[in-house]
Amino acid sequence: MKIAIAGTGYVGLVTGVCLAEVGHENVVCVDIDDKKIERMKLGECPIYEDGLEELMIKNYKLGRIDYTSDYKKAYEDVDVILIAVGTPERSDGSANLDYIKEVSKQIAQTVTKDTLVVIKSTVPIGTNEEIEAYINKNLKNDVRVELASNPEFLSQGSAVNDTLNASRIVIGVESDWARELLEEIYRPFNQPIIVTNRNSAEMIKYASNDFLALKISFMNDIANLCEIVGANVEDVALGMSYDDRIGSKFLKAGIGYGGSCFPKDTKALHWLSSHNGYELKTVKAAIEVNENQKLRLIRKASKLVENFKGMKVAVLGLTFKPDTDDIREAPSIPNIQYLIEREANVTVYDPVGTQNTKKIFGDSIFYANSIDEAIMDAEICFVMTEWKEIVNYDISKYKKNMKRPLVFDGRNCYKIDDMKKLGIEYYSIGR
Ligand code: UDX
Repeated sequence: MKIAIAGTGYVGLVTGVCLAEVGHENVVCVDIDDKKIERMKLGECPIYEDGLEELMIKNYKLGRIDYTSDYKKAYEDVDVILIAVGTPERSDGSANLDYIKEVSKQIAQTVTKDTLVVIKSTVPIGTNEEIEAYINKNLKNDVRVELASNPEFLSQGSAVNDTLNASRIVIGVESDWARELLEEIYRPFNQPIIVTNRNSAEMIKYASNDFLALKISFMNDIANLCEIVGANVEDVALGMSYDDRIGSKFLKAGIGYGGSCFPKDTKALHWLSSHNGYELKTVKAAIEVNENQKLRLIRKASKLVENFKGMKVAVLGLTFKPDTDDIREAPSIPNIQYLIEREANVTVYDPVGTQNTKKIFGDSIFYANSIDEAIMDAEICFVMTEWKEIVNYDISKYKKNMKRPLVFDGRNCYKIDDMKKLGIEYYSIGR
């Protein structure tokens, strides 16, 4: 089977490489960025993702996968085209489908045989139907194009593993032809396949992401109350987790969720519901709690120090979570902005997120090469991401090397007793 994939971001590239890895022998990844394509052909992985580069190189050498910017050649005689381009947030919260529409136009102009077009990108309910109508109206050749929904559930940092060992494959189809083709593609993965109609499949993706976001916001809300009433949110989460109706995952309180999915997908579904005359109150609450959570620690800190002006402030961890270089919607960003506005001397450290952070803050902050350097003589330190290096840091150095050993930990990286014993002033979340 010939498979083309539009878009070489997290979803497109990981999907393409994993399809080749499980044995598909004719996979082509398409991207408009020539330079990116050339680098990929040379074996360079454009994203920071554990294990991906090795699989890219291996499958390219085996001739199972190719990369191209020539969409015409890539789409003209394939069996299936997977669309995995971005659907970023518009200013009103709705999903921007411009990239999907651009690819659809290219498909309509190019395909020369009956083709199944599969949308993997997260798209509003009804998009498959709309795009199918658009492509069929604008087809250059006398062929049939059918759309199917196949949402993606991978997480950054564990994307390859998540794809090779997915919890489930969801396919939303309107015909046996589409179902059979998709079942054939996913057969080598040996994972449960859930078949629904297209609208339900599109909804499964939003409902799953929004539920996880809601779970985090709920725990953050509970954490804030724990602080007031003298409970410990980690003990509370542990006690809850033994109930398998609740589960143990995504109960970790912190300074809010970030990344390229939860913030965007909560807002998009909320927008979609309002647009359809219905208010999704739970999702709205998740969004509001998350917005407040991001600045909760720093607001608390500002009461304690009164004035950040001229103060050396260390920020440890910039990415929205560990094991990625992605800083999109990372809680570190509004916190750094807050500090810059108050004229603090901000010094940041992250094992891999520094380059991306420089694109936002340029030389308005300092970039340290180590935790040691970042906290040296600092009067306050904020922990924003639970990188292993930060969690395993020798905490006695906060005491020894900071001007004032004052640590605000947004990810509960350290034990309260250990910090107190060393004489560190320590504030964390919900405990
Ligand atoms: C998420 C979904 O997990 C994935 O299924 C979907 O396909 C894309 O969106 P991702 O954005 O890569 O994946 O990261 P995830 O690990 O889910 O974390 C998202 C955010 O939630 C991070 O900022 C993380 O720090 C935060 N989080 C997660 C918590 O604050 N507490 C938790 O218990 C779990």
